[in-house]
Amino acid sequence: MQSLRMGVAGCGLIGRRHVDVVRTSPGCLLVGIADPDPAVAGLAGSIGVPHYQSVAELIAAERPDAMVVATPTQHHLADALACAEAGIHVLVEKPLADSHQASWAIVEAARKAGIVALVGHHRRYYPAVREARRILAEGGIGRLVGATVVWVTLKSDDYFVPDWRRAPGAGPLMNNLVHEVDLLRFICGEITEVTTRASNAVRGFAVEDSAAVVLGFANGALATALISDTAVSPWSFEMATGESLQVAYTGENTMRFMGTEGSLEFPNLVFWRARDGGRCDWHGAPASSRVKARFIDVYVEQIRHFGAVIRGEETPVASVEDGARSLDVTRAIVASAQRGEPVRLATPQ
Ligand SMILES: NC(=O)c1ccc[n+]([C@@H]2O[C@H](COP(=O)([O-])OP(=O)(O)OC[C@H]3O[C@@H](n4cnc5c(N)ncnc54)[C@H](O)[C@@H]3O)[C@@H](O)[C@H]2O)c1
Repeated sequence: MQSLRMGVAGCGLIGRRHVDVVRTSPGCLLVGIADPDPAVAGLAGSIGVPHYQSVAELIAAERPDAMVVATPTQHHLADALACAEAGIHVLVEKPLADSHQASWAIVEAARKAGIVALVGHHRRYYPAVREARRILAEGGIGRLVGATVVWVTLKSDDYFVPDWRRAPGAGPLMNNLVHEVDLLRFICGEITEVTTRASNAVRGFAVEDSAAVVLGFANGALATALISDTAVSPWSFEMATGESLQVAYTGENTMRFMGTEGSLEFPNLVFWRARDGGRCDWHGAPASSRVKARFIDVYVEQIRHFGAVIRGEETPVASVEDGARSLDVTRAIVASAQRGEPVRLATPQ
């Protein structure tokens, strides 16, 4: 198998993780990194790869097969378009872009160019996420009735030092709930209506600190999500999985899926069904069992999958269409909070 020649643009917090993963992944060859920050030249020197100021410079000099774009979100459109115009496959970090127009422009450019274009919704690669999706799709809990999501944590004071983190658009709805929205869409199906009530009562910043959201799915199921960055709790995806070095691990379940024949707690995959496999109404308690799923480095799996899609061996798990749609739903959740009314979303064709 010939190695894929890959570049990474944007070598900050998450871009450095991609640099490490691309360098060490079988079947990948890191051919250059792009970042205007002079400190990145030192990184390039230390790992022995060329350093460029921009995606355009890297593409012109190296003609890579594929790029990872981990630049600030407002640069994603320009960087993804540069890749599409050069016919280079691209993995764009999430959120896909900073507006509806920009994200769908990326989708359209990728389609026209015929390139593989993925979005960095890395949580889709957890085996527990794939298993939950499989169990629901195979009718393991019967017909899906609803789901509950909790993402509640107390962000530390230093997080709010930069002014922009206290401004509208930078709160837990756009920053954190976008991940839960993408997982709900992946596991349960398309979201068609949202209603939000947001609050800034505790911190008093211009941006929300907490919100309660009701979500309606095309298949008739409902979900509720409580999100807050100002309460002490063991229930957030990061705490459940230990995926972030900055966030403590609790291992507690944060999502519950409920159907006509059973329920599933996530991410530990506790499966509740009738004891004898028959019907279980409220006269009898359901029995629980665990479905095993390994916790893996999903950034490694994401790059492996990117390569496999490029070679035509796998179909995309997280396409740029998914990124654009999850962003649209999240923006609708914010709009509902602002307008004080439900927001409907058209069902994608
Ligand atoms: N999937 C995840 O787990 C995850 C985690 C964190 C961030 N992100 C996303 O990744 C993106 C980057 O976030 P971050 O936290 O790494 O930001 P960051 O500020 O730490 O890093 C961004 C880097 O991009 C560089 N840069 C700026 N303009 C550039 C350009 N035109 N070309 C090349 N490089 C440029 C900056 O110098 C900086 O080094 C954002 O979209 C963010 O939402 C995803």
